[in-house]
Amino acid sequence: MANHMISSKLNAVTPTYVLPMHERPLAPVPIDKEIPVIDLGEERAVAAQQLVKALEQYGFFQVINHGIPDDLMDEAMEVYEEFFNLPVKEKENYAEKEETLYTNNPKHHASKEHKYWKEVLEHNCNIDGQDKQTWPSNPPTFREVIGAYSSEVRKLSMIIFDLVSEGLGLEAGYFGKGHGQRMFVNHYPICPDPSSTLGTGGHCDPNLITICQQQVYGLQILKNDEWIGVEPLPHAFVVNFGFPITVMTNGKLKSVAHRVVTNKTQARTAIGTYFCPANVVEPAKSFVGPENPPLFKPFKWGTEFLPHYFKNRAVYHAALEAFKINA
Ligand code: OGA
Ligand code: NI
Repeated sequence: MANHMISSKLNAVTPTYVLPMHERPLAPVPIDKEIPVIDLGEERAVAAQQLVKALEQYGFFQVINHGIPDDLMDEAMEVYEEFFNLPVKEKENYAEKEETLYTNNPKHHASKEHKYWKEVLEHNCNIDGQDKQTWPSNPPTFREVIGAYSSEVRKLSMIIFDLVSEGLGLEAGYFGKGHGQRMFVNHYPICPDPSSTLGTGGHCDPNLITICQQQVYGLQILKNDEWIGVEPLPHAFVVNFGFPITVMTNGKLKSVAHRVVTNKTQARTAIGTYFCPANVVEPAKSFVGPENPPLFKPFKWGTEFLPHYFKNRAVYHAALEAFKINA
């Protein structure tokens, strides 16, 4: 028990964690059984159509038969959970250490006074393997396990990109390759008061695709202005696309807002892998024509888009405003 106490600073719901009334998750939220679960073992054309339909209807889906071994998923979860169980002092050694970043003090999306109830570990895992030197070295298996996991998730991202580009009628390889890859691991400790707090506030993702492993309930997505819960399915991945897909499809596909609620009885760790666009983001040629003029200006993702994104995450779709044509 003593050990547990020093592994987290998040024990009491002090005023900073108590959110303004309109942000609190007070209304009951159903766990939706209809968020599509796509079997990647299906015939190619079928899977491609299902993925596109899921993106049109929900913006989120889960994938099974994705080729990543269950054991490797379990080991990755264990490694990150062991990391979060380390003493606070040791974790804080990773606060902004080169490209790796640990925080138990995450910024609220809109206000300086409020905070979300979580700890975060972020680290790059680019294709050249150079980032490994900046990753935590405790637990001792961290670099080996996460090295293997992150390269498997990269392969999965390419499978999904291929299927989605096929389903959307884009040219093969449209989404590019060698995408920037960053792990974004959220740990939500047990929270004494889930009704006044959030683990992560509502937002849309900035990156091209997010591939997330979760085992405990907490993730909710916005559909028709109502929050619905995403059921944790063993050894599935939850997948969503971020803002760039809206631009690439010239407004056809939307990025969907989501948030995370806290839990009174169980801690939750969600392993998010973010892939960034490989190229300049712009409407794809097959989505523009005389009847469909481009709705967005091309932009460079890292230097032009991200600064807008971080200015206002709480207004879910604000980041694209600056890039709209004739807005
Ligand atoms: C994110 C995110 C969801 C989760 O990191 O962008 O939405 O379940 N995470 O932690
Ligand atoms: Ni997100």
